[in-house]
Amino acid sequence: MVKTKIAVLVSGGGTNLQALIDAQGRGEIPHGEIVLVIANKADAYALTRAEQAGIPAVVITKAACGGDQEVFEETLLAQLAACDIDLIVLAGFMAILSQRFTDAYEKRILNVHPSLIPSFCGEGFYGLRVHKAALEKGVKVTGATVHYVNEIPDGGEIILQKAVEIEAGDTPEILQRRVMEQAEWKILPQAVEIVSKKLANR
Ligand code: GAR
Repeated sequence: MVKTKIAVLVSGGGTNLQALIDAQGRGEIPHGEIVLVIANKADAYALTRAEQAGIPAVVITKAACGGDQEVFEETLLAQLAACDIDLIVLAGFMAILSQRFTDAYEKRILNVHPSLIPSFCGEGFYGLRVHKAALEKGVKVTGATVHYVNEIPDGGEIILQKAVEIEAGDTPEILQRRVMEQAEWKILPQAVEIVSKKLANR
């Protein structure tokens, strides 16, 4: 069997990247292999995680592309093509991708979002902001979603979701951690294996 070649795109701490590396180490992603990490921030701690796991990592920033979105996306696409990537995983990747980019990898880009879509998603909802909005609304249950990426922010087909209870005394930071531990770090590796298996069997 030829494994699905996976690139993980990151911007920050990379705990979801770590969850994928750990799941791969436990043999839970038998149909895929993480072969590349791309960060759009030079100081992303996720780069250290990639290095420690022996996964090639590169930095591609929009600033280095003259601040030009088209050049940024072309540079990303060239890097992905050079590594023969089949599946892109956005794991805390804080950059909007245009339809030109998403069309190039239709049904081959996944994203993890820290809420139960369609709640608290779309433009402006990322990171702690998502959890702040959930607490302000007073919802009793939140969670995480893994979905395919299309041209609509957080609008692609849902693959997996997992609910997480809100608890008394939650702050955005406490809630973010619980959603990661109970939902994101579990469903992201599961979804990556589901899609890797589909692509490997094509
Ligand atoms: C995660 O909670 C992820 O769901 C969220 O950013 C965090 C990244 O953490 N992504 C979004 O909000 C995307 N809209 P990580 O770098 O430790 O994986």
